[in-house]
Amino acid sequence: MATIKANSYNIYIGDKSFDALNTFLTKNKYSHYYILCDEHTFEFCLPTLLFLAPLLNEAEIIELESGEDKKTLETCLQVWGALTDTGADKKSLIINLGGGVISDLGGFVASTFKRGIDCINIPTTLLSMVDASVGGKTGVDFEGIKNHIGTTAEPKAIFVNPVFLETLSERQIKNGYAEVIKIALIADINFWKELKKLISVSEFSSEKIITKAIALKNSIVKKDLHEKNLRKSLNFGHNIGHALESALIKQNKDILHGEAIAAGMIMEAEIAKPLKRISLKEQKEITDYIRSIYKNIKITKETETQLLQYILHDKKNEGDDLCFALPNGIGAYELYCGVKLDLIKKAISNY
Ligand SMILES: NC(=O)c1ccc[n+]([C@@H]2O[C@H](COP(=O)([O-])OP(=O)(O)OC[C@H]3O[C@@H](n4cnc5c(N)ncnc54)[C@H](O)[C@@H]3O)[C@@H](O)[C@H]2O)c1
Repeated sequence: MATIKANSYNIYIGDKSFDALNTFLTKNKYSHYYILCDEHTFEFCLPTLLFLAPLLNEAEIIELESGEDKKTLETCLQVWGALTDTGADKKSLIINLGGGVISDLGGFVASTFKRGIDCINIPTTLLSMVDASVGGKTGVDFEGIKNHIGTTAEPKAIFVNPVFLETLSERQIKNGYAEVIKIALIADINFWKELKKLISVSEFSSEKIITKAIALKNSIVKKDLHEKNLRKSLNFGHNIGHALESALIKQNKDILHGEAIAAGMIMEAEIAKPLKRISLKEQKEITDYIRSIYKNIKITKETETQLLQYILHDKKNEGDDLCFALPNGIGAYELYCGVKLDLIKKAISNY
């Protein structure tokens, strides 16, 4: 089992991480346990959790409907209501058992209920293991804007057990792997070289890859929890990727976060090249690897118009300056403000 130290808590990784969970539960005397899950993690993950952590058999189970469209204040009302109706107090613990939707929403609910109660994350998707559960960003979508309402509130611990990935689809594994690619590109060239050798989906989610990706994200978050500077590097691929995700969701198209981010990284690498942040060879290397894994996304004229609107309103911009977190050579990054709209349009049309 690997243990990674975050700001104020530990991240335990491996099939033995549940031994650490049992120790955590025994040591901290909580008055009530609440397990937050959706219908899929209820079916596929909860039985394993209850078997391996028997203390949790006395937990209240709060089952939510799955899906990004349920990451809303209405669902929070449902959870706050269930906590209130069952007598949750300041010494209650919320256990987020699920993907990024559950950890974002559960973390937000925990950080606001009675001005904050403890929560832990037990991520069950690759995306939530390597990214969403780590770093203390919580929140929900509001009026169609992703993560518009939220807090920065770190969990008390994270327990990453890769056994849960056995029931996850190949598409969902690739979804999470996009964030693994991103962290390598901005933070560690050797990790990138290692990734380029991986071709099978089972290799994308090995314990070794998960551990390295978490360690890299955690080292960035530890230096800049509130995203004043360094943490902005994690936004590589996300200006265009988030905009693309929002535009396609608005059109009711089937798109996953990581798929949009993969396309976003291709387009933002195209922006980084004329700005001399990466060479043509590096751009080709990035593009070829991403294209070997992810299907091309069709960008219609309508999508392009919406995409540009979302990019212009991105909260990562500073005043009128369009700010992008771009690689500065593979394995490093630079926050580049003042990216011209023409360059963005060109990157979209060349995609
Ligand atoms: N807070 C952060 O720093 C951060 C970072 C990245 C992404 N996010 C957020 O994370 C969310 C996306 O996370 P996600 O991709 O995990 O989505 P998700 O939580 O919707 O999970 C994806 C699907 O997989 C199912 N599922 C979960 N675990 C399973 C398992 N073990 N077996 C079978 N099915 C399982 C879920 O029920 C859901 O249908 C987005 O809302 C995004 O904004 C947050």
